[in-house]
Amino acid sequence: MASYDIIIRGGTVLDGTGAPGRISAVAISGERIAAIGNVDGESAKEIDASGLTVTPGFIDVHSHDDAAVLVSPMSFKLMQGVTTDVVGNCGAGVAPALRDGLRGLPGVELILGPLPKEAGWTTFGEYMDAVEAAKPAINIGCFLPHGMVRARHLGMDRRAPDANELAAMQADVDEGMAAGALGMSTGLIYPPGAWAKTDEIVELSKVVARHNGLYISHIRNEAEQLLEAVDEAISIGREAGLPVQISHHKAASPDSWGKTADSIRMIEEANTAGQDVAFDAYPYAAGSTVLSAARAVRRDIDPDAIVVASVNEHREYEGKSIRQIGEMFDISDPREVVSRVLSEEPAAVAVLHTMHEDDVRRVLAHPLCMIGSDGIPTPTGKPHPRLYSCFPRVIHRYSREAGLFSLEEAIRKMTSLPAKRFKLADRGELREGAFADIVIFDADRIEDVATYEEPRQHPKGISYVLVNGRVAAEHGKQVETHAGRLVRRGVS
Ligand code: ZN
Ligand code: CU
Repeated sequence: MASYDIIIRGGTVLDGTGAPGRISAVAISGERIAAIGNVDGESAKEIDASGLTVTPGFIDVHSHDDAAVLVSPMSFKLMQGVTTDVVGNCGAGVAPALRDGLRGLPGVELILGPLPKEAGWTTFGEYMDAVEAAKPAINIGCFLPHGMVRARHLGMDRRAPDANELAAMQADVDEGMAAGALGMSTGLIYPPGAWAKTDEIVELSKVVARHNGLYISHIRNEAEQLLEAVDEAISIGREAGLPVQISHHKAASPDSWGKTADSIRMIEEANTAGQDVAFDAYPYAAGSTVLSAARAVRRDIDPDAIVVASVNEHREYEGKSIRQIGEMFDISDPREVVSRVLSEEPAAVAVLHTMHEDDVRRVLAHPLCMIGSDGIPTPTGKPHPRLYSCFPRVIHRYSREAGLFSLEEAIRKMTSLPAKRFKLADRGELREGAFADIVIFDADRIEDVATYEEPRQHPKGISYVLVNGRVAAEHGKQVETHAGRLVRRGVS
């Protein structure tokens, strides 16, 4: 009789491909799935999954956990069923060059969380080695953040690179891609990345293309000029010859509401014309970013729509809207209130209630849409609830309650779809030989409980989370903090 480390019995297995579920046993040996079906054998541990659903671990394609993975048990991700996290998004991060790269960027430690004291890498590959050595709680894939590459060679200068500087930036991209980065990210509203013109990004993306990587972008405008910005992203993919992913696709201002119908049509047409373009989203009608960016992109500020989430010292601002803070100081002009908060708290993070639910649903429901939390792991304050509950919310609110898609499709969006596109080998599917990244939950009861007022709450209804064959969370408790691995592009 065969013997295994763990057998999960009695659960309805959804393999992540979108295929209908069936009751099967899943046997695990070491880090991988050894058998699925009528498993005959014995095991050191048996998990009874009767009445529960067994799926691949969720893949968060858009996180800002670059520093958190080095120092934190990552419970905010693990407890929502996330077993693989992708860092380096929006052109922001902590590598290649830690000290040079962060020059001029105030409050990175508030936004991304504290870095370990010994942090001292000087290349992107060394950063990835540091992630590997830290044995993170979940698996980590890394994007090269364009803003950090640019900051290293041009500082915060608002100009184009000269030929030597461009060659140096290309060498950094080449180094990171050769070390196994998944691709390059841009954040074209955030300085210094925002100072790049399209041709600079094309030239850097050509290096990414040579390594079969992916270009992902927080595009230049998510408001009135949404369509122009989508067009720029698509053209970068066409000119550099690589696939494109539009990050957290949305229409982020009342004057752009409804435009996702057109942006999605543009993306579909690009695919028809032979390009490879897709997108991700989080299941909320509010976004979150640094308050300074909110001011930069918006001329008219709706004081009720912007809520301060996290600050360093003036904790009395946390959870209050710009209108409420204005009342504290008797200032009525919202721009003036924002300026005052920023003068005291340059790195303040805000939650922005500026999307329309119809756009959120249109984007989420599309078959090319995968899920990325965009969670900002601030150690203080009231972060956007997506940090704690993005994935259960897709199942609970948008599949089970709203009926936007089936449970099988919800799981596909969170597992096999991103695994293929991001080249996370042997992940995102339950099959023999794949890594045993697994979530076991009650599909009728899984519940998103984190709110804007009380965001730091773990979801309910998840019984087990396994990372690389090890039980990492069990009945709402984290029991393992080092089962994850660094995932290099295409390497299993
Ligand atoms: Zn972004
Ligand atoms: Cu982001």
